[in-house]
Amino acid sequence: MNTPHLEQQSRLHKLGSLRTLWPFIRRHARLLVAWLIALAVSSTATLSLPVAFRQMIDHGFSGMAADAGQINRAFMLLFAVALVLAIATALRFYFVSLLGEKVVADLRDRLYSHLISLDLAFHDHTRSGELVSRLSADSELLRSVIGTSMSVALRSSVTVIGSVIMLFVTSPHLAIYSLVGIPLSVLPIIFGARRLRRVARDSQDRVADANTIASETLGAVRTVQAHGRQDYEQKRFGAALRVSIAAAQRRIRTQSLVTASAITLVFGAIVLVLWLGAHDVIAGRMTTGELGQFVLYALIGGGSIGGLAEVWNDLQRASGGMGRVSELLQETSAILPPEDPHVFSQSFQGEIAFRNVFFHYRGRAGVPALEDFTLHVAAGETVALVGPSGAGKSTVFSLLLRFYDPQAGTIHLDGIDIRELEPNQMRERIALVPQQPTLFATTVADNIRYGRLDADDNAIVDAARAANANGFIGELPDGYASELGERGARLSGGQQQRIAIARALLKNAPILLLDEATSALDAQSESAVQEALENLIHGRTTLVIAHRLATVLKADRIVVMDKGRVVAEGSHAQLIAQNGLYAELARLQFLE
Ligand SMILES: Nc1ncnc2c1ncn2[C@@H]1O[C@H](COP(=O)(O)OP(=O)(O)OP(=O)(O)O)[C@@H](O)[C@H]1O
Ligand SMILES: [Mg+2]
Repeated sequence: MNTPHLEQQSRLHKLGSLRTLWPFIRRHARLLVAWLIALAVSSTATLSLPVAFRQMIDHGFSGMAADAGQINRAFMLLFAVALVLAIATALRFYFVSLLGEKVVADLRDRLYSHLISLDLAFHDHTRSGELVSRLSADSELLRSVIGTSMSVALRSSVTVIGSVIMLFVTSPHLAIYSLVGIPLSVLPIIFGARRLRRVARDSQDRVADANTIASETLGAVRTVQAHGRQDYEQKRFGAALRVSIAAAQRRIRTQSLVTASAITLVFGAIVLVLWLGAHDVIAGRMTTGELGQFVLYALIGGGSIGGLAEVWNDLQRASGGMGRVSELLQETSAILPPEDPHVFSQSFQGEIAFRNVFFHYRGRAGVPALEDFTLHVAAGETVALVGPSGAGKSTVFSLLLRFYDPQAGTIHLDGIDIRELEPNQMRERIALVPQQPTLFATTVADNIRYGRLDADDNAIVDAARAANANGFIGELPDGYASELGERGARLSGGQQQRIAIARALLKNAPILLLDEATSALDAQSESAVQEALENLIHGRTTLVIAHRLATVLKADRIVVMDKGRVVAEGSHAQLIAQNGLYAELARLQFLE
């Protein structure tokens, strides 16, 4: 990821990243236009309110030309403006909130589908927790921005400009005083609020510090008590609490100060303007109503400046979030389908050929995982891959599935380079039972169905039976409808493996890749899994990473790997006779 570059960019123009939201907003043009219309109407109503107010004062109270009809009209006008304001505000809120929801849903949808199809090298280097937080926290931020901050920013800008104009229309010379006075009274409040936010965040952090200590030590209460460290931990927690109280006190003090000065400044400014205005009224330069109108415009304008200042920070934070999101959206997959993919004929045989493949993982250029690796597997053949840990066995599978592309050499399926095939269509023809079975937190049936989504219940039971899983599934509380818990945690290791095998059986693909792991299995479930595997291997091209002698002996051919290379090949008897790496592995691993 090109983080440094982006950081630099975002420092240059802090709100620039928000521009990348535009394509997502534009897609909902009708909502956008509806929002803008509602915004125009509500802003006009807001700005008309003081005028209606003046009419009311001048004709309603000051008794200048008090005929009843005029009084009624003045009050009707005020109420009508208020009504329009109410309706337009409701509509504005409705449209912009809906817009926010839709845009963020689109964005998350887009981001998710992008992330899930990015290549494995990307995912090896990115923590999934971080991706999830982009999907949730950053998107959440953007929703509040579109739904609230952007709306407040635009509305406040309009009202600030509008009220400044109206201040001049109402009374030019009072307006000039106000243009100096409003910022003078609002700016200190803005700075105070900003400082308040900072100390508030600090106060929250200190509370979080104390919580961290508590959750860590309560989670490790065994260790704490085993060392007799209760008093020690209690003092640590107490100290953290004292720090958090000190931070809270700073926050409370700042808040009190800000409140007091805000009240003083705002009322001071109003009193000042009223005082100046009162002299104008006495001198006959303006009416009482005009003065009231003026004060209202000043209040609306000042309030909007405050509103702008408030959302400024939110906009910046959201811009940072959008920056991170668009950075992910710009990430391109190294594994792309070809322009004009080759289509397999109906009679797919399942022949596999690796030719002089060189491959190293990203960031490990010095340590090749596969080096000049050549392997040919005829259609229908079963080949066992044997070798020490880290030899590159699982890597062979990853390359065949095209999770990564080799740096040199080719991989062919039925004589066709896999880079000329559409990746998903190619993977359709390969079933993998991975080293660590990965189950989802759904039911048994859904986990098996993952192999073929349109499979019916009978097919699922058949697959489970062939995988020797039907027995234990029947003993689960809800049978096939039992929930398996996160990552299949409610099953034993051997049971998880058999579900994974059932899934591969259901897929019924012509090529089978088995990354055997024996560690999780006791002797009994091992033989159950073994039987399941035999059912699976029958009639398919099979590559099996073998840790069990039984599997090795069933293979047509054994390939011994070490440090990314093929070091020997042959039958069990031949390889034992050579007395090389295989014989040593066999002694240590199979015959213990
Ligand atoms: N995603 C990855 N990113 C970087 N390096 C990797 C990655 N996966 C494997 N490696 C490295 O590549 C080499 C080959 O790993 P591989 O998983 O193919 O070994 P293996 O033969 O399957 O071993 P085992 O029997 O322990 O499963 C190892 O040195 C390993 O550290
Ligand atoms: Mg492995």
